[in-house]
Amino acid sequence: MSVREVLRMGDVRLLQRAEPITNFGSRELQNLLADMRDTMLALDGVGLAAPQIGIQLRVVIFEVSKNPRYPDAEAVPQTVLINPILTPLSEAMEEDWEGCLSVPGLRGRVPRYTHLRYQGLDEKGGVIDRTVSGFHARVVQHECDHLDGILYPMRITDMRQFGFGDVLFPNQNGQDE
Ligand code: NI
Repeated sequence: MSVREVLRMGDVRLLQRAEPITNFGSRELQNLLADMRDTMLALDGVGLAAPQIGIQLRVVIFEVSKNPRYPDAEAVPQTVLINPILTPLSEAMEEDWEGCLSVPGLRGRVPRYTHLRYQGLDEKGGVIDRTVSGFHARVVQHECDHLDGILYPMRITDMRQFGFGDVLFPNQNGQDE
């Protein structure tokens, strides 16, 4: 399939609420997922949501291999998550740095729920039901926000903690979500 253009912040299509998938196993869905994977890999991303390539459907993908930017973070298996439901398992939140393929070059500290249950469906309509924490929980919240038109800068509470990645972290190559 193909590497698609990733919409950047300022494009109103990133601010829309995406629609649920109702038809599983379609060629259209397979093509969308192939394009999302190709695009995420080409840009070395951690995750991607369909609205970021202009498709207003509730589909996200993510995968975290060991990342030098998060040395203590666990790896996250390659996941296709459709029509997700997120349920925080406590009020606890923590701040950490995020980036986004739709906000290239920038990094910000974003508060996220620390413990989370997420439910949804995979590409074949199979049930996904996971309880996660830490970086895994962060990635899921970031990606699912895209389905509701929310970009991470909207969640930053201290705008002094928002800047260019190469200035903030001159010795690191971070990945974007
Ligand atoms: Ni993002």
